[in-house]
Amino acid sequence: MNSLLVATANAHKTEEIQKILGPEISVQDLRTLPEVGDIVEDALTFEGNANIKSVTVSNLTPDLVLSDDSGLCVEALAGAPGIRSARYAGDDATMEENKALLLQNLKGESDRRAAFVCVLSVARKGEVVATFRGECAGKIIDAEQGEGGFGYDPLFIPDGYTETFAELPAEVKNGISHRAVAMQQFQAWLSLQS
Ligand code: IMP
Repeated sequence: MNSLLVATANAHKTEEIQKILGPEISVQDLRTLPEVGDIVEDALTFEGNANIKSVTVSNLTPDLVLSDDSGLCVEALAGAPGIRSARYAGDDATMEENKALLLQNLKGESDRRAAFVCVLSVARKGEVVATFRGECAGKIIDAEQGEGGFGYDPLFIPDGYTETFAELPAEVKNGISHRAVAMQQFQAWLSLQS
């Protein structure tokens, strides 16, 4: 396989997946398939939403389709924002609003434990053929640090490090992140396919 369609319009996810896979595989995303439009992600789990995205897109192309549903789960908030990470402060909320709400909800809270979760779903011709889950544990800090990455990265320090995902070099994040862990499983699965 030398090209892969990822069922996302999130350019940050595509960029990370491309960097993790390396230059031998060319990663395309939904920006090349605008006819797909908005996909309603109304499942209650990361797995469910990842499957909705991969199956929907694989009905429109003969190619193998990979989707990524991911988010941040905070212990003291009973797993929130979780599957609502992109829309935590409301359906049309910006990431600035989502991060501000997270900090507000954790004000005075000493338990800062959190984990990023990524579920990848692989589908072909309308059928899920595999799913993979990756997690990266860490903690939420009190104020943003760093300019890199995306989403909640400036608020998250992975366990074993002293800098946020937004401060660490991209190669470091892409070696340890929830997405990297799930992608390693996907690559192992891919290498077993004929
Ligand atoms: P999805 O597109 O429904 O999977 O939403 C994923 C949301 O989770 C993103 O919009 C981010 O807010 C958050 N998220 C997922 N992965 C990351 C990451 O690697 N860094 C920071 N935030 C992330």
